[in-house]
Amino acid sequence: MADQLTIALSKGRIYKDTLPLLEAANILPSEDPSKSRKLIIPTNHDNVRLLIVRATDAPTYVAHGAADIGVAGKDVLMEAPTDNLNELLDLQIAKCKLMVAGPKEAKPHGHRLKIATKYIQSAKAYYAEKGQQVDLIKLYGSMEIAPLIDLADKIVDLVDTGNTLKANGLVPEEHIADISSRLIVNEHAYKTKFNQINDIVEKFKSAIE
Ligand code: ADP
Ligand code: PRP
Ligand code: MG
Repeated sequence: MADQLTIALSKGRIYKDTLPLLEAANILPSEDPSKSRKLIIPTNHDNVRLLIVRATDAPTYVAHGAADIGVAGKDVLMEAPTDNLNELLDLQIAKCKLMVAGPKEAKPHGHRLKIATKYIQSAKAYYAEKGQQVDLIKLYGSMEIAPLIDLADKIVDLVDTGNTLKANGLVPEEHIADISSRLIVNEHAYKTKFNQINDIVEKFKSAIE
C-alpha cells in the first residue's frame, strides 16, 4: 500500500494556482478551502491529504515532517530556516517582485534610513550587500502605511501590478529579487517516499511546461 502523503498549502493565490498542477497529478481535493472551514482536506486518494496552513507556516510544517511536501513563496523561504527541507521545483506561480518602495517625494531625514518590512532577513541581506546601515522595523502586513505616517522612510515589500503602492502614493525604487512559489520537500520524506513524491514532481513539471 502507498504511504500516507501530506501536502501543505496556503489558501488564496497559492491554492488557486497549485490546483491545476494537483489536477495534472490526478490529486483532486474533496473540498474547496475558500468555501470550507476544514483545514485538513481529503483527496480522491485515501492516502493523500492537504493541510491548509498560513503561507508563512508552510516551510515549518515541511521542515518538521508534519507535511511531506508543500508550496511556499520564495519570499517566505528566504526568511525561514531551511534545515531539513529542499526546494524541488520552481512552480512559476504567484510571481511578483521583492522591492524597496518609498514616497513619491521622499522627505529629507536626519537619521539612519528606517525601513519597515515583513522581510527582515531579506532586507538585512540587501542593505548589508550595499554596505548601507539601516534600521529595520518588523511589520506583519499593510507595510504601505509606514512611510505615510512616518513610522519609516521606506518599505521592503512584494510588488506585482504596483496598484497597492500607487493607491498609497508610493513608488517602486529598487529591485531586490524575483519571487515565485516553490515545491518544497522534507528531506527524510524525500528518501522514504521517493517514488510517490517523484511521480508528483514529474507530473507537476510537465504541467508547468
Ligand atoms: P499572505 O496571507 O501571507 O499574504 P498570500 O496568499 O497573499 O499570503 O501570499 C502567498 C505568496 O504569494 C507570497 O509568499 C508571495 O510569494 C506571493 N504573493 C504575494 N502577494 C502577491 C501578489 N500581489 N502577486 C503575486 N504573488 C504574490
Ligand atoms: C500583496 C503584497 C502587496 C500587494 C502587491 O498583498 O503584500 O501589498 O500584494 O500587489 P500589487 O502590486 O499587485 O498591488 P495581498 O494582496 O496578498 O494582501 P495581504 O495584505 O492580505 O497580504
Ligand atoms: Mg498577501
